[in-house]
Amino acid sequence: MSRKILVHTRINGEEVEFLCEPRQSLLEILREVLGLTGTKQGCNNGNCGACNVILDGVLVNSCLVLAVEVEGKSVTTIEGIASPEGLHPLQQKFLEHAAVQCGICIPGFIIAAKALLDQNPHPTELEVRRWLAGNLCRCTGYDKIVRAVLDAASSMRASACCTSVC
Ligand code: FES
Ligand code: FES
Repeated sequence: MSRKILVHTRINGEEVEFLCEPRQSLLEILREVLGLTGTKQGCNNGNCGACNVILDGVLVNSCLVLAVEVEGKSVTTIEGIASPEGLHPLQQKFLEHAAVQCGICIPGFIIAAKALLDQNPHPTELEVRRWLAGNLCRCTGYDKIVRAVLDAASSMRASACCTSVC
């Protein structure tokens, strides 16, 4: 076992410190050290998207990020998506569209979709499908997921319009 390194980061808006070995992935630390098991492990090699998190505004596969790389950075996991007022619109629309079957891939899809809508609030269906190409689902066939993301985008635009001068 190698010497452990102390990492200071921000996860879902809270300051967090943890010890890790230089070889450990962010995914491993989130799940096994910090208990944030909403981030799923699928392939563990960058192919499925189940482990998606947002790192300083950028969508990443946490299985491909070393935990030491998040020193001084900000991480958003699925546990940080909902607010005290309720579910995030993406979570709500996934439920309404029944876009969930076994559920293992869904946190990764929701994180990926959030990263898309943060930068493009009005995506086309093709843009959603292209953006989610790095996320694999063995159950749903993708159509319900895509419809849920488009519906969430529409609902978020409507809310933004109601809360601004328009
Ligand atoms: S577990 Fe990271 S991409 Fe599959
Ligand atoms: S809902 Fe089962 S893998 Fe996507």
